Amino acid sequence: MPVREIATKPFSDQKSGTAGLRKKVAVFQQPHYLENFLQSIFDVETSLRGKTLVMGGDGRYHNRTAIQTAIAMAAANGVAKVIVGQGGILSTPASSHMIRISGAAGGLVFTASHNPAGEDGDFGLKFNIAGGGQASETLTNRIYEASKSISRYRIEENVWVDLDRRGSQKLGDMDIEVVDCVDDYAALMQTLFDFDRIRDWFKKGHSLAFDAMHAVTGPYAQRIFVDLLGAPQKSVMNASPLEDFGGGHPDPNLIYAKPLVDLMYSDHAPDLGGASDGDGDRNMILGRGIFISPGDSLAMLAAHLDKLPGYKKGLAGVARSMPTCRALDMVAKGRGLACYETPTGWKFFANLLDSGRITLCGEESFGTSSNHVREKDGVWAVLAWLNVLAETGLSMQQIADAHWKQYGRHYYARHDYDELPTAVANQVMETLIASLPRLAGQKFGEWTVSQADEFGYEDPVDGSVAKSQGIRIVFGEAARLILRLSGTGTKGATLRLYLERYETAAEKLGYKTGEALAPLAAIADQLIRIGEITGRKAPDVVT
Ligand code: G6P
Ligand code: ZN
Repeated sequence: MPVREIATKPFSDQKSGTAGLRKKVAVFQQPHYLENFLQSIFDVETSLRGKTLVMGGDGRYHNRTAIQTAIAMAAANGVAKVIVGQGGILSTPASSHMIRISGAAGGLVFTASHNPAGEDGDFGLKFNIAGGGQASETLTNRIYEASKSISRYRIEENVWVDLDRRGSQKLGDMDIEVVDCVDDYAALMQTLFDFDRIRDWFKKGHSLAFDAMHAVTGPYAQRIFVDLLGAPQKSVMNASPLEDFGGGHPDPNLIYAKPLVDLMYSDHAPDLGGASDGDGDRNMILGRGIFISPGDSLAMLAAHLDKLPGYKKGLAGVARSMPTCRALDMVAKGRGLACYETPTGWKFFANLLDSGRITLCGEESFGTSSNHVREKDGVWAVLAWLNVLAETGLSMQQIADAHWKQYGRHYYARHDYDELPTAVANQVMETLIASLPRLAGQKFGEWTVSQADEFGYEDPVDGSVAKSQGIRIVFGEAARLILRLSGTGTKGATLRLYLERYETAAEKLGYKTGEALAPLAAIADQLIRIGEITGRKAPDVVT
């Protein structure tokens, strides 16, 4: 196979965000764009030479083309073996698992997660390291630096790999193995959860509605929920993965997964409702007539996980991202577990998981997972809940009520202001930062500010430091307001305002979330003045 060195010029915008490089498809389709970024990875991560590299994506438009390019470049850059999901498909957690069990030196995950897909949609690429975790900020910065001075890339010419034929193929000296995207992942799930018990639960007439949102989890849900656990076929909605995700926005939240939400609040709601996003790492959990916020889901799983086969030894510790509500902290306190608070971004959990400090972690952005992989895992979360329901025999409402009675309840919501001009979003942040020193001790309504600062994190394992990870205004245990800029948007800037209110008194556990948070939202208006500075009357998304 002829290897060619192609001369190229740098693009200035190949800086990874919270989870990889995400751009419009058209940006990735520019000549040399993807190639430059890939070569920057190969140049920086020289450990890939002579080793195995895993590849797979969420199946969105441009996935197959990009994977063909990546395979041709892997061969030209001395990779010994590529393991690729059949049809170019691997969910993000399944990629992580594949990297781990194959002993690969890394993986390329082709996804823009929950961002819309299709010709006019987004595309993305994330580099994961040996062990299955996301590249650290230091590494993605090095890749970015390399991309700014790149002058050539290496590629094998005229390569076309049959991505649909399972088994081994050769490309020059490089081995290619096309694997079923579900097999290994499904096997892993069977070691963690009690499939017999869940099967019995379904046999007793209990029910599930899982919305795959026409994205990557369709085949996983079909195999695991229907084929292996015996749930009726109708339990999986929107099961066929489509290149444009059916034109939808595969983000499992109250806005974008509305059909599932409506079903769960209807007369024929099943016992459990779940949804996952484009690449299968996010999850949303509902019971009959009840939405379990991601922070609550995390806390409740922390309280029940040791009943499930894979976690019988108990949890080593738990972690949540800073903006995620502090419900988890209450469980950790009650059970004597270490509880870590990290910046937003799954990669910050990696060292805690690798060093055995934590077993379970999660984020407000609908991400939950355990130490079984190094990514968040949507199908895992739904299975964990199925197993908890089957094990306890309780309903979601009963579990939630008992939990809030024991630990108190954190009312929680996130208000997003999307596609703001960057300068305006920065102005909101800077104005608030300037006012922080004056806030401590001030009283607003029934709450007094106990702390007002910018969150910074020092990784307890490697000592690395992440600064300016969001502004927090803390009112003791009673409430918090958090403001940060999203790191995953592809257009303009997104401001996220997080509201959290904690109540323990029995008569205060049954409020509607919006009503419980209204006084806090009013304080946020007064303190942060988003409406005034941006001219926006209301957030674009409340979830
Ligand atoms: C991705 C990452 C998460 C992160 C989320 C929101 O899903 O994997 O770790 O929490 O994006 O990030 P953002 O910066 O947009 O709030
Ligand atoms: Zn995702």
